[in-house]
Amino acid sequence: MREVVEIIEPQWVIEGAGVRLRRSIGSSSFDHLDPFLLLDHFGSTEPADYLRGFPMHPHRGIETVTYMLAGLVRHKDSLGNKGEITSGDVQWMTAGRAILHEEMPEDLGGQMEGFQLWVNLPAKLKMNPPRYQEIKAGKIPWLNPEKGVAVRLIAGKYANTTGPVTEIAVEPLYMDVAVDSGNSFTYQLTENHNAFLYVFRGEGEFCGVRTQATKLLVLGKGDSVSVKAGLLGTRFLLVAGKPLEEPIVRYGPIVMNTVEEIKQTLREIRDGTFIQRYACGVEK
Ligand code: FE2
Repeated sequence: MREVVEIIEPQWVIEGAGVRLRRSIGSSSFDHLDPFLLLDHFGSTEPADYLRGFPMHPHRGIETVTYMLAGLVRHKDSLGNKGEITSGDVQWMTAGRAILHEEMPEDLGGQMEGFQLWVNLPAKLKMNPPRYQEIKAGKIPWLNPEKGVAVRLIAGKYANTTGPVTEIAVEPLYMDVAVDSGNSFTYQLTENHNAFLYVFRGEGEFCGVRTQATKLLVLGKGDSVSVKAGLLGTRFLLVAGKPLEEPIVRYGPIVMNTVEEIKQTLREIRDGTFIQRYACGVEK
């Protein structure tokens, strides 16, 4: 059984052009959980908290994973892609060597809620071409493995089902799990993968620790995860991945292995070659 080795209280931060969100990985108190570099939980019924969005910005060296629970985010990028991510959709974007994109929430007159996770790329893949996996809600299986348990499998395996996001370097598991009051959920994780639970609804007992939303629970070594929902039921993300064990040097949305690589990226952004040379899709 894995134990909870750290309980992280998400911090409220202002990100992008003025989006209020809760950050639990990539904050001043919890930098990263290899290979995960950031976890943001955005959510509000107040459009002023999110409408300013995330105007054009660069990424290099990482993958950004957006999972929407409610609302709509319109996106476009330097490769000419554009589209919208709405309730239940996932966008797994492998930035690789260069992408410039914007992510702009819209006011649909109600709740906007979702998550963005940053997954590190191994050194040998950081300068690969960018790649998108955009998965509409209907393509993500909802499984009912046990009574009172519903699992949305985004990436990884559960019993005989494989999630729709595939061929990711860190072999991630990403699932959204809802457990009704008094019911239990168990899962066998890959033993050497780092893992966390992000409890965003209700309360329960998570690997022996009683707690309630909203918390990030970092799991220690072992394989099995066990959750027993409390009276209110609970809903949480269970995320795991293979640690890369490589140096991490980060500068906002650019995450490389050395300071020199960061300086080189900033030079390219300054002189315009970042986009001309790489982000139009063909390396010149
Ligand atoms: Fe971004």
